[in-house]
Amino acid sequence: MRVLGIETSCDETAAAVILGDRVLSDVVHSQVRLHAEYGGVVPELASRDHLRNVRPVIEQALAEAETRLEELDAIAVTCRPGLSGALLVGVQVAQGLAWAAHKPLVGVDHLVGHLLSVFLRFEEAAAPEPVSYPYLGLLASGGHTALYRVDGPLPEQIEELGATRDDAAGEAYDKVAKLLGLGYPGGPVIDRLAREGNPEGIPLSAPMQRRDSLEFSFSGLKTNVMRWVGEHGLPGNDQTLRDLCATFQRRVVDSLMNKALAAAAREGLGTIVLAGGVAANSELRQRGSRLAEARGVRLVVPSLRACTDNAAMIAFAGAARAARGADDSGQLEMSPHTILPRKTRKGRGARSDGQPRSQ
Ligand code: KG4
Ligand code: ZN
Repeated sequence: MRVLGIETSCDETAAAVILGDRVLSDVVHSQVRLHAEYGGVVPELASRDHLRNVRPVIEQALAEAETRLEELDAIAVTCRPGLSGALLVGVQVAQGLAWAAHKPLVGVDHLVGHLLSVFLRFEEAAAPEPVSYPYLGLLASGGHTALYRVDGPLPEQIEELGATRDDAAGEAYDKVAKLLGLGYPGGPVIDRLAREGNPEGIPLSAPMQRRDSLEFSFSGLKTNVMRWVGEHGLPGNDQTLRDLCATFQRRVVDSLMNKALAAAAREGLGTIVLAGGVAANSELRQRGSRLAEARGVRLVVPSLRACTDNAAMIAFAGAARAARGADDSGQLEMSPHTILPRKTRKGRGARSDGQPRSQ
């Protein structure tokens, strides 16, 4: 299927065209600079910027893919979870395009897109490692951090096994970076500084690690960094700063991996797939692979391009639904919450309350 994907749920305006698993075009307009001075995404600014850029981004994606609207089999758009005003821009445009071109319109849950991004074949990236269902998805981004059992590409084949009780991992990176005056987004900067730091250099206690729970918690770790800074003052651009970043990062990576490995063992899954912006983290990719290998589990690390927000993953998730005849034209439901249910002891449970990224 040839599908146009549109993504405007947070701070990236993105459009892409895919053909099967091949990404024909992948255009991402990032708003990072717009929000940088506020240290986080400002919803009102995000919506306005999407409105400015959504049309040129879609036109570029179609042009680069040498695809005319009439040639599409479907149009896919992120309709949840995300910032309401931001989602609305993409959804409105997608509805207009689908109506004018007489194409099926499919709504996509952004988290499903992330969890399937491992299958995408980007032009310039190495071919993706072969992955088959079922697998354990570890999604860690700025807005969400959770573990999923993925039995297939449809939302009803995916269930959440555990999520963060408070901050998302990326959010913790961003907040700690803000506190240390390192700018926004914090993940890449802390990742870089941590490479030259001692991960045991600062006495920071680990995030909640109750053995039987698959929930994450990162706000305590953030508070510990805050407390340390309160006692010792802000480190300059020196070894102490690098040690602090390395220690913080080690705690985050270990927490993500410990819970992911526990979930994989509990579900009897031999493969863990990383997804989301934090999956770009060098320590999570390298140390994570070693920790998984030691337990006989394969850690699949998608290309950097696939990890961060993009519309190719939305097109791919939409294609899976469209291939089974889904068409949401006329009744596309938008929501700040994910559609993926949380697993209860008895089986599939209530819809989870994934929250949009906080400021
Ligand atoms: O998935 P994403 O692009 O957007 C959301 O849906 O949230 O993730 C963005 C998040 C930000 O919080 C950013 O700090 C984090 O991913 N991030 C990283 C790295 N690169 C981006 N976190 C840790 N290490 C990185 N290298
Ligand atoms: Zn995302």
